[in-house]
Amino acid sequence: MKQITVELGERSYPIYIGEGILDRIGEFFAERSINKHSPILIITDENLAAQHLDNVTHNLKHAGYNVIVKIVPPGERSKSLAVLEDVIGAALHGGLDRQSTIVALGGGVVGDLAGFVAASYMRGVRFVQIATTIQAHDSSVGGKVGVNHPFAKNIIGAFHQPELVIFDIATLRTLPDREIRSGLSEVLKEGLIWDAEFVAWCDQNTDNLLEMNSDALQHAIYEGIRIKANVVSLDERENDLRAILNLGHTIGHALEAVSGYNELLHGEAISIGMVGAAKLAIRLGSPESIYIETKRLLSNLGLPTRLPEHLDIEEIMSAMMHDKKFKEGQMVFVIPIAIGSVEVRKGVPAELVREVVIELKREV
Ligand SMILES: NC(=O)c1ccc[n+]([C@@H]2O[C@H](COP(=O)([O-])OP(=O)(O)OC[C@H]3O[C@@H](n4cnc5c(N)ncnc54)[C@H](O)[C@@H]3O)[C@@H](O)[C@H]2O)c1
Ligand SMILES: [Zn+2]
Repeated sequence: MKQITVELGERSYPIYIGEGILDRIGEFFAERSINKHSPILIITDENLAAQHLDNVTHNLKHAGYNVIVKIVPPGERSKSLAVLEDVIGAALHGGLDRQSTIVALGGGVVGDLAGFVAASYMRGVRFVQIATTIQAHDSSVGGKVGVNHPFAKNIIGAFHQPELVIFDIATLRTLPDREIRSGLSEVLKEGLIWDAEFVAWCDQNTDNLLEMNSDALQHAIYEGIRIKANVVSLDERENDLRAILNLGHTIGHALEAVSGYNELLHGEAISIGMVGAAKLAIRLGSPESIYIETKRLLSNLGLPTRLPEHLDIEEIMSAMMHDKKFKEGQMVFVIPIAIGSVEVRKGVPAELVREVVIELKREV
């Protein structure tokens, strides 16, 4: 088992990564003094409930916890005020008090929702995340929690750090293939912004990762978390540095919005976005090799690198203008300057971005 601590002063917390480690959940909870006298609420989605909930509930009950469960529908639509209200109803009904702990069992959707329940219920209770997607290496670090508004994603939220996070590789084995690749897209992104050595490792271990080799997955998740945690510790409340984590996200978020959040998975949209950022980088003076390399790495992971033909360029441009990262009338872009190194560039002309988006449709 690997362990990493997210260093945030008194809000620091451990992340455990290993195969079959949910058996040790009682021990992990005890280390963090999770209260046994108040009920615990597990929030999960229907897919996870069918596969892994019994194991978690059993282990927690065995460790002496009083467990209540709330199951929500899978998918982004559960990150809504309506579902939040429903879950808070379940918390009240189950008698959760200020000393209670909320446990998220799931990927980023359940993590963000459950984290926001924990941040807001009785003005804040403790929160544990059992992360079940590769993508969650990202969402489980940094403390951003929240839900969507019909007009904007992640617009209602808070910063609320968990007490601990557990990644049991055994739970990842039931993930659909596309979700695996999509999660690896963002793992690779962590390397592309910060660590050329890790990018080289990903390159050498592409097959191991796609075959869900336990050691390879543990290493990839560990490194992804290490890099994100590093960036977040240096800039917890998102001033400047933390923005580098958004490599590929300006275009990627726009693609998700324009395609109605149901065609492209997040990591797929970010993959296309990272190719776009690399193309933009060339226009702003970076070497062409960055683009070639970025595209090769993503293709090897089976990720899309080309813009779907039917998406409208002007709609994509207009979605980008609504992005939270659109500051003072100019476009802000994370631009790769070498493999493993990026720069936040302000004042990028929209016209240049439009050219790149048009070209993204012609990628082979
Ligand atoms: N808080 C943050 O800092 C942060 C960062 C990145 C992303 N996010 C958020 O994370 C969300 C995306 O997270 P995600 O990609 O983990 O998606 P997700 O939670 O929706 O999970 C993807 C799908 O896989 C299923 N699933 C999850 N784990 C499974 C497993 N082990 N076996 C079988 N099926 C499983 C889910 O039911 C769902 O259908 C987005 O809402 C995004 O905004 C948040
Ligand atoms: Zn992302």
